[in-house]
Amino acid sequence: MILIAEKLSEVRAITRIAKEMNVEPYIGLRVRLVTKGAGKWATSGGEHAKFGLSTSEILTATDIMRDAGMSQAFKLIHFHIGSQVPDILIVKRAVREAARYYAKLRKMGHPVEYLDVGGGLAIDYDGSRSTFHSSMNYTVDEYARDVVYNITDVCDDERVPHPDIVSESGRAIVAHHSVLVVEAFGSIEKTPSMPAPVHTEQHKLTRDLEHIHDHVTTQNLSETWHDLLQIKEEAQKMFDVGVLDLNVKARVETMFWEIAEKLQRLTKDIDPSEVPEDIVELKNQLADQHICNFSVFQSLLDHWALGALFPIVPVHRLHEQPNMASTLVDITCDSDGKVSKFIDLNDVRDTLPLHTIKVDEPYYLGIFLTGAYQDIMGDLHNLFGRVNEVHVFLDDDEESGYYIEETIAGHTIQEVLGMTQYDARDLISKVKAQVDSAIKQDKLKPTEGMRLLADYERGLKAQTYLSFG
Ligand SMILES: Cc1ncc(COP(=O)(O)O)c(C=O)c1O
Repeated sequence: MILIAEKLSEVRAITRIAKEMNVEPYIGLRVRLVTKGAGKWATSGGEHAKFGLSTSEILTATDIMRDAGMSQAFKLIHFHIGSQVPDILIVKRAVREAARYYAKLRKMGHPVEYLDVGGGLAIDYDGSRSTFHSSMNYTVDEYARDVVYNITDVCDDERVPHPDIVSESGRAIVAHHSVLVVEAFGSIEKTPSMPAPVHTEQHKLTRDLEHIHDHVTTQNLSETWHDLLQIKEEAQKMFDVGVLDLNVKARVETMFWEIAEKLQRLTKDIDPSEVPEDIVELKNQLADQHICNFSVFQSLLDHWALGALFPIVPVHRLHEQPNMASTLVDITCDSDGKVSKFIDLNDVRDTLPLHTIKVDEPYYLGIFLTGAYQDIMGDLHNLFGRVNEVHVFLDDDEESGYYIEETIAGHTIQEVLGMTQYDARDLISKVKAQVDSAIKQDKLKPTEGMRLLADYERGLKAQTYLSFG
């Protein structure tokens, strides 16, 4: 085992404890390279990173080892410039810089045998093979060849023996192992499929809207949009002072979104560069929302915190053309609990093509490549705990080509309450005391009281997410 130190105090601690225990340690040093990563995790590397030893600290560390009579302990040089490095040029630069440290230390007589190239090997989340933060412009093979070639090249140049290479790739090894399947159980549509009630008497506002509806063309998109906004504002003002019925308000709102949708449809007939800016933005406002039984904070933390993108596709009805442009919202109380940025080959898209949810038919979405960092970092925001887990193994011997090795139930409500110092037994006895007192005061029938208590106990054992059926 080689203990890798990132601070001088750690080198001092290792040498002191090793002496106390009368053992010979193997020590590695994490070097703080000047080469900086790129993308979302770039600050893990570079001169101002919080990790690693500067050149002078490395030399001081070797002095500490020497003074402790442990010069032979120094076995490894390590670096890590951050996760998800999208650009191979940065990898090459970092490897060469670290190899130079290795070679110079070797030449000074230190017995370093290993060069540890850390993690950073990326995942092509969006499939664009670019230097975009959710992608990578290289393959795993290219990465391996570049690491080996550049270390060899520097070592040959410096005439030192080649080191054994160690890598610590995390994300690249585990990202593919897990897919989060979430049920979309409802949707919020901007333009309701149900027509708004038409009241007998036409109102001036609805007459104006009908006129707008009939006269909008590709030539007057912007003007129409502004007229629409004006009418919507007028309707709101009239409602605020009490001179607009709910009937008319409902009709105005429905017609507003219907015309907005028509405007949006008309943009398809003109050159995209000629679509007015506010009409481009309208597209996002018109997006529908699928409500999904999950928590972004528990299961997709990098998307919420860093804007990392993941491939998301329905796992149902793939033979059917999607008919909605939608975003995803989760079941937490937080407006941030949503996914409104999706991967696209050339850009980031604001909506995802999805299907209308059918009554009594489940509709599941797969969120892929979530195997690295997501579930383990997920926090308990809104007390949504771990999700149900199914371990699926591919196996050619099975008729289906796979088998389910294990299913692990997600957290129950009482488990997550326990994590916040609420003891289930305590809670139950408090509710029981209230039920007993209500029964005594004739506020509750005994059978009702017992049913209430049983429901409460059952609820504590249920899972934190919504259960249907
Ligand atoms: C020191 C070190 N090595 C390796 C890794 C794994 O990185 P990755 O998942 O990008 O391969 C990390 C992740 O933060 C790290 O801090």
